[in-house]
Amino acid sequence: MRFPVPLSLAAIALAVTVSFPTLAKSQVAATPPMGWNSWNYFSEKVDDATVRETADAMVSTGMAAAGYVYINIDDTWEGARDDAGNIVPNTKFPDMKALADYVHSRGLKLGIYSSPGPRTCGGYEGSYGHEEQDAKTFAAWGIDYLKYDWCSAGRIYTNADLPAAYQRMGQALAHCGRPIVYSLCEYGMGDVWNWGPKVGANLWRTTGDIQDNWKSMSEIGFKQSRLAPYAGPGHWNDPDMLEVGNGGMTATEYRTHFSLWCMLAAPLMAGNDLRAMPAETRAILTNREAIAVNQDPAGRQGARVSSRDGIEIWTKPLQDGGQAVAIFNRTEVEKTVALKWAEIGRTSRPGTLRDLWEHRDLEPAAEGASGKIPAHGVWMLRLK
Ligand code: GLA
Repeated sequence: MRFPVPLSLAAIALAVTVSFPTLAKSQVAATPPMGWNSWNYFSEKVDDATVRETADAMVSTGMAAAGYVYINIDDTWEGARDDAGNIVPNTKFPDMKALADYVHSRGLKLGIYSSPGPRTCGGYEGSYGHEEQDAKTFAAWGIDYLKYDWCSAGRIYTNADLPAAYQRMGQALAHCGRPIVYSLCEYGMGDVWNWGPKVGANLWRTTGDIQDNWKSMSEIGFKQSRLAPYAGPGHWNDPDMLEVGNGGMTATEYRTHFSLWCMLAAPLMAGNDLRAMPAETRAILTNREAIAVNQDPAGRQGARVSSRDGIEIWTKPLQDGGQAVAIFNRTEVEKTVALKWAEIGRTSRPGTLRDLWEHRDLEPAAEGASGKIPAHGVWMLRLK
């Protein structure tokens, strides 16, 4: 879809300064944000009732108790602007403030979506030229999280303007009177990890859109290792939302997806229908031992330490001085893997060794550990 922009507007936009002060350190997203987002499953079919039911399900399924907090409305909620230029939701969302109150009453937080361009990716109203006004509106509604999606902004700005364009909303959010998690969605353009924190971002997309299949998920996930140095408390790499439970992968593959996102200290945004979640999906999304790795307060992103014959070993340093280790089998056949302690930087056997999917302690042998890993599967461990 193309979004024609009057030349005069483009000229004003280009005049925006690209030098910016670093925004104050965020009070939000000290650990990777956890929640749910409507897009991967519901796409444009999200409405007020769905969001309320999802909030209820977040609590009744045990997801909230496992740490999930944000209920995020993605694209297609937007209506036109009123005479004063205020953004108004469309008929699917009759009263955004009442919806936020409801979500808050469940002990959860509400997120919303917009674009630095005049139109969102779905062709709905964006925030271009209304950044301050929209940030105030979101705060008045009680919004706690904003995903800000580049979309039509490319019609106005060049890629060199990415930081300045995102800074405008970052500044507006910083002054809106409410802590709002700021999530940049720019598909990894512009080496965003270099400037994201400076424009107030708490997370930024590092890739194009994920799809619910092994190829898409694994290509995205296993490409993230080099970005590890850029993540930390308050500012996270975002390899896109979870597809766990959406039907395009096996349970083994979804365990790999979830384990990898945990190792990456990635935001954990469930993208399935929480209202109709099979026990197997729920067990994956609420694996507290895996979540503890993701939410570790040290906020270190894991990285690959070795890769051979389709077997990848990743490690993630943890606050308690221990480490999480995930051994991934990217091949099409079951493999027996022998892990040597030296391969993960240890000079001797760990004191404790825990299997994070079997939920049991293992006896660490002198040289290392060995186990069978199914095709596309993972063996996820915690060592101390
Ligand atoms: C882009 C984003 C997606 C989703 C859609 C909505 O493709 O990357 O995550 O927000 O827009 O239109």
